Amino acid sequence: MNESNQPGGGQPGHHRRPRYAGTHPKKFAQKYKERNISAHPDLREKLHAKGKTPAGSHVPVLTEEVIGCLKPLPGQVIADCTLGFGGHASEFINRIAPAGRLIAFDVDSIEMEKTKLRLANAKAKISFYHSNFAGIANVLTKENLDGYDIIFADLGVSSMQIDDPQRGMSYKHDGPLDMRMDSRLKLTGADLLNTLSQEELAKAFWEFSDEPDSEQIAQMLINQRAVQPITEIPQLVRLVFAVKGLTLASWKKQQRSSKFGSLHPAARVFQALRILVNDELGSLRELLRLAPYCLRQGGKIGIISFHSGEDRMVKQAFRDGVKEGVYKTASQNAIVPRRNEVMQNPRSASAKFRWAIKAD
Ligand SMILES: C[S@@+](CC[C@H](N)C(=O)[O-])C[C@H]1O[C@@H](n2cnc3c(N)ncnc32)[C@H](O)[C@@H]1O
Repeated sequence: MNESNQPGGGQPGHHRRPRYAGTHPKKFAQKYKERNISAHPDLREKLHAKGKTPAGSHVPVLTEEVIGCLKPLPGQVIADCTLGFGGHASEFINRIAPAGRLIAFDVDSIEMEKTKLRLANAKAKISFYHSNFAGIANVLTKENLDGYDIIFADLGVSSMQIDDPQRGMSYKHDGPLDMRMDSRLKLTGADLLNTLSQEELAKAFWEFSDEPDSEQIAQMLINQRAVQPITEIPQLVRLVFAVKGLTLASWKKQQRSSKFGSLHPAARVFQALRILVNDELGSLRELLRLAPYCLRQGGKIGIISFHSGEDRMVKQAFRDGVKEGVYKTASQNAIVPRRNEVMQNPRSASAKFRWAIKAD
């Protein structure tokens, strides 16, 4: 056999790219061009024009509003609590350079390593912490700092995490029900689904995402897991559909007839389980508690949330802070993306941004 006919063309270490049927790759593994988007600027333009985010990247939301309200200045120290792809971080760096410093947190070491490389030529010093932002106060001591001028958090998951089937975050894929943003966490989504009580599951579905069928879904999960453990994304999606009396075909028909498209039937359950796995509300509570002690006088905090429970917590903490004199002022209303932004980046649709300024 000719060497070039062998898989990988006979070159050691060379892997053939996954082939796909038709003209467009559908699966994450096949989207090798999208996942290396900086080498394919035409494709980036095409996808953005269609309101799509290239697989393996993330479009930062409400950037203009964040910069406009937090007003980063040369020389400042900023805590970016949720580094992700580094979109907001890059905007901050451009404004605080050269003497400013960015302290970047993320629980996701897989993506943080990639973002580190992407920011290798940044014009300001960056310290990377593979840490929950609940550790924001400890890092001040490590960095020998007296406080941050700005604390910023863009909560929830990144597009890279949603798009990768192996992370188990999205009902759209075929993969394991992992859902951990931080691989150091012991329990996955599957672990919780197969061990929590019916009451605990129903409570999570209701409290973390207002799922109207939370009781029935929890009941169904308990019955099904007695027969077979629930470990894969399609299993959970099928169970939610069954409770709601839907089939894939009836759901697609329903969606076609809805003017604005409707929420996927399993979206709420997936969101609730992810919030539970990562204790997202617990981390936010801790960040809101610590922020006033970590900000310099007149320092600013800005938080983008994507979930009504989180937004309520942020609003309440800022209001209480103003009442108690910890913050001198706070945003009156949540700032939301303009129509144009939502059209270009539909993932921004549920974003809400609030800010507060620490008293002098
Ligand atoms: C919406 S993305 C941030 C995107 C980022 N602003 C950008 O422009 O690329 C949220 C990121 O926060 C991280 N994250 C979520 N909760 C966290 C926590 N409690 N501590 C640290 N990082 C967290 C996620 O792993 C994810 O990378």
